[in-house]
Amino acid sequence: MTQITIALTKGRILKETLPLLASAGIVPVEDVFSSRKLVFATNCHNVRVIILRGSDVATYVQFGAADLGVAGKDMLLEHQGDGYYEPLDLGIARCKLMTAAPVGAKPQSGRLRVATKYINVARQFYAQQGRQADLIKLYGAMELAPILDLAHEIVDIVDTGNTLKANGLEPRDEIADISSRLIVNKAAMKTKFNEVQGIVDAFKKALENN
Ligand code: PRP
Repeated sequence: MTQITIALTKGRILKETLPLLASAGIVPVEDVFSSRKLVFATNCHNVRVIILRGSDVATYVQFGAADLGVAGKDMLLEHQGDGYYEPLDLGIARCKLMTAAPVGAKPQSGRLRVATKYINVARQFYAQQGRQADLIKLYGAMELAPILDLAHEIVDIVDTGNTLKANGLEPRDEIADISSRLIVNKAAMKTKFNEVQGIVDAFKKALENN
């Protein structure tokens, strides 16, 4: 029996992933939200799911610790790893990766300070714009950085825009459209072709029937 491991992103994305996974015929045998477990058996005897932080899903799939994964495109852009294919846009957890600054703030004349957890994405974006920026790595609550003068701008995901608004910030430049993607370890695609391709096809069908 060939064991298949699917890495899922916890939080918001997980809520939207589970119905899709169920349409693809895979259902965890326990309620993943009320358990502290990280590994779950499913109704498919050879398929298990693991629940990770979004920033770790690509790493598990890159090194083949998981065969497939569901991760936000923002995390994949930031991860910049290889070792996996990205066969499907699942169209869930849609949002935008944007820069944001205090409402009405004038463009910075000196060196720009930018706070973000998307250091690689930000570095690339500001370089493309020909703008020099000092990047400050944060792990959450980016919106606080301009308020406390830690940074002039932030790079973060924006969905409703409510978090920006509630903190006196406004969206500026759009960097990328984000949604969750199915990713597949390159080696597993060869060595476990039938099982892995079967799951990719099941996701494809689930999306068509949505
Ligand atoms: C994200 C993001 C913003 C917020 C944007 O945080 O970092 O803070 O959502 O959503 P909005 O435009 O609808 O207000 P999330 O709640 O996912 O938590 P995180 O800080 O752990 O990423």
